[in-house]
Amino acid sequence: MSTRDFRNFDLLTTSVVLLDQSLRVVFCNQSAEVLFGVSSRQLEGSRLSESIGSVDEVEQMLHEAIEHQFDAKRQHLTWQLPTRGVTQLDTTVTAQRETDERLICIELREIDQQRRLDREERQADLTQANKELMRNLAHEIKNPLGGVRGAAQLLDAELPSDDLREYTQVIIKEADRLQGLVDQMLAPHRKARVMEPVNIHEVCERVRSLMLAEFPSGLSIARDYDTSLPPIHGDREQLIQVVLNVARNAAQALGGQGAIILQSRVARQVTIAKTRHKLALDLHVIDDGPGIPEEIRERVFYPLVSGHPQGHGLGLTLAQSFVHQHGGVIDVTSRPGCTDFLIRLPIDLKWSQQ
Ligand SMILES: Nc1ncnc2c1ncn2[C@@H]1O[C@H](COP(=O)(O)OP(=O)(O)OP(=O)(O)O)[C@@H](O)[C@H]1O
Ligand SMILES: [Mg+2]
Repeated sequence: MSTRDFRNFDLLTTSVVLLDQSLRVVFCNQSAEVLFGVSSRQLEGSRLSESIGSVDEVEQMLHEAIEHQFDAKRQHLTWQLPTRGVTQLDTTVTAQRETDERLICIELREIDQQRRLDREERQADLTQANKELMRNLAHEIKNPLGGVRGAAQLLDAELPSDDLREYTQVIIKEADRLQGLVDQMLAPHRKARVMEPVNIHEVCERVRSLMLAEFPSGLSIARDYDTSLPPIHGDREQLIQVVLNVARNAAQALGGQGAIILQSRVARQVTIAKTRHKLALDLHVIDDGPGIPEEIRERVFYPLVSGHPQGHGLGLTLAQSFVHQHGGVIDVTSRPGCTDFLIRLPIDLKWSQQ
């Protein structure tokens, strides 16, 4: 194989490293460079263990490949990465026998990434169906609701005694509450988006001050911003709503007492909803609260799923809908003591530099 042939590997989101029989790197693709945080120039010609640190499990698998104990093997292995330390990676090692060079090919996928992609795909159809159901349901409720409220008001005015008015007031109050719920269900589709350059840190600061006003004592909101991030192409109000809904849930889970971190990072070479982006923004909203109740953890983004008796279960559905409209993705990992919502939004550099 000539070097030219290897360049096609750069199109892959999977990290690929080719080794010769002495375990020296012959080639590594761009995804591998990003994963290891080491350039292909530094890697090529050196032994993998010298450049990125040796781990027994990996060494053993590679030696088995050289000794022809298998042709291809896939396993979750622990790697020691210069960029992020000990990391579990989905590792496939293939021993090529047909070519003269007898190369060993390593394919690496991030387990979280892989799980996220699978889940994203599974949920995409369901989310669409859910959205339509919600919108139709909201319209169906909205029209008769106006009639119910109007009739209750008329009745209220005609009633001979104040005792009975208590009942009409219940009807009016509950109709108003339902009206508010229905308005929220229809909200994402009502206002046209205004796309402009948005500094995500301004969005975070706005949310931070709103949250501190809403939870005045006992809540700390730390910022950990990467200020080198370019602006993103988005609707400021929608993005504020997204971060606010997520942060408010965190504050509610903390009972207003605890720590939230707003953290921004650059992500490179990411795939979101089957589209590859060179650059993206990762915004984490992290709290040290009790975690999402296990029974709803898999369904938190679905409409009407709530862990609170008073909750509408719409905050995260709305956040997800807005994030999708920005070509992004929202996901969560949660355990007691650490809930981490990741909002990943693509950054279009061409656009940012205008
Ligand atoms: N950071 C968090 N920690 C613990 N649980 C969380 C967290 N974020 C969300 N949840 C759980 O997910 C549920 C769904 O959240 P979502 O915002 O969609 O609805 P809600 O907060 O119940 O109601 P609302 O529509 O008023 O926001 C919450 O009720 C809560 O149980
Ligand atoms: Mg909420």
